[in-house]
Amino acid sequence: MAGMKRSILIHPDPRLKKLCDPVADLSDDLRTLGDDMLETMYDAPGIGLAAPQIGILSRVIVMDCIREGEGTPNPMVMFNPRVVAASEETSVYDEGCLSLPEQYAEVTRPAEVDVEWLDRDGNLQQQTFDGLWATCVQHEIDHLDGKLFIDYLKPMKRQVIVRKVQKLKREMARG
Ligand code: NI
Repeated sequence: MAGMKRSILIHPDPRLKKLCDPVADLSDDLRTLGDDMLETMYDAPGIGLAAPQIGILSRVIVMDCIREGEGTPNPMVMFNPRVVAASEETSVYDEGCLSLPEQYAEVTRPAEVDVEWLDRDGNLQQQTFDGLWATCVQHEIDHLDGKLFIDYLKPMKRQVIVRKVQKLKREMARG
């Protein structure tokens, strides 16, 4: 599993606001996409990445919430992931996003979710996630529906973050 690093889109970009298409049959191309996404995520570094963040409008996410040096890596690649059940209990995390560099804000989400997805062999998997994993998987699945964590914030707070990212994006463009 040696993927190729792809470049990550920074907000605002119309591709980050699109509803992504389900993948059909699992192919080598899709497995390669998963490997590339993991490589891109680890390199960033980040704990999750969704395909639209590299400009691919397909329902694919990757994540690994084991931070470097804190345990054995647990890379996950999910095709067509969906939340099939969510707890009433909620939890709050200070979320960030590779498409909104250096910006963080508290978001409330269900504390526990059951997720179904196809693995790289096309087999249906189901697992219950809690803690940071639950937040991360919901954040990444949101990306597949064109939703960013800032969409949960009050307009003022969102505006502050968007302005900072626009400034950062201009600076990056200048090199
Ligand atoms: Ni994100």
